[in-house]
Amino acid sequence: MITPMSRLETLKILQELYMYRSFGFTYYKKREIMPQKPNVSIPNSLDELKKNVHGCFLCALCKTRKNVVFGEGSLHAKIMFIGEGPGACEDTQGRPFVGNAGILLTKMIENVLKIKRSDVYIANIVKCRPPENRTPTPEEANMCRPYVFKQIEIISPEVIVALGGTSYRYLTGDESGITKVRGEILEYKTAKLIPTFHPSYLLRNESAKKDAYHDMLKVKALL
Ligand code: URA
Repeated sequence: MITPMSRLETLKILQELYMYRSFGFTYYKKREIMPQKPNVSIPNSLDELKKNVHGCFLCALCKTRKNVVFGEGSLHAKIMFIGEGPGACEDTQGRPFVGNAGILLTKMIENVLKIKRSDVYIANIVKCRPPENRTPTPEEANMCRPYVFKQIEIISPEVIVALGGTSYRYLTGDESGITKVRGEILEYKTAKLIPTFHPSYLLRNESAKKDAYHDMLKVKALL
């Protein structure tokens, strides 16, 4: 992907062109200036990764965020829940799933799976809040996804629960709707992946809760 040139890069090129002109050149051979991939190194420890993510300015979401929402939970979690991106409460507190959807997710974890929220790991595809809670764009997801992939690699959970269609699509690249794929047990990296409805959707659609409940029972059975 080709990213837009930063002001500094533009200035450097202009400076170089002025220098050539002062030497008498009238023609400048085009050369590859932009790296094809963003030059970002991804550390292998969660603490280092967190530091990197807190200093991330790779996409425009950094301009409107109050806080980066890296993710939280146990380093030894057997289950990882992955949402799409922080909402207003999460942006304010810098923690994932702490608003109304988070309260429901916590109930699903504690009342159905019968484990403490602090024993699982909770993260999102994008780590900064999309304005007005819109769906993260493919560009934003592409920039941020290496972080969630690294979180998965480090935590190495047995089961990953993709919360909602956006999370499922950006994790797998599969465009199928969540209604079609929810509850399936899929092979994903070294884990099983179970897509289910997003808790925000469940808050708006009471009747979908029983499906989500059955999905959670499948998660429980896998452990
Ligand atoms: N919705 C998400 O997808 N993630 C959060 O952290 C909160 C709400």
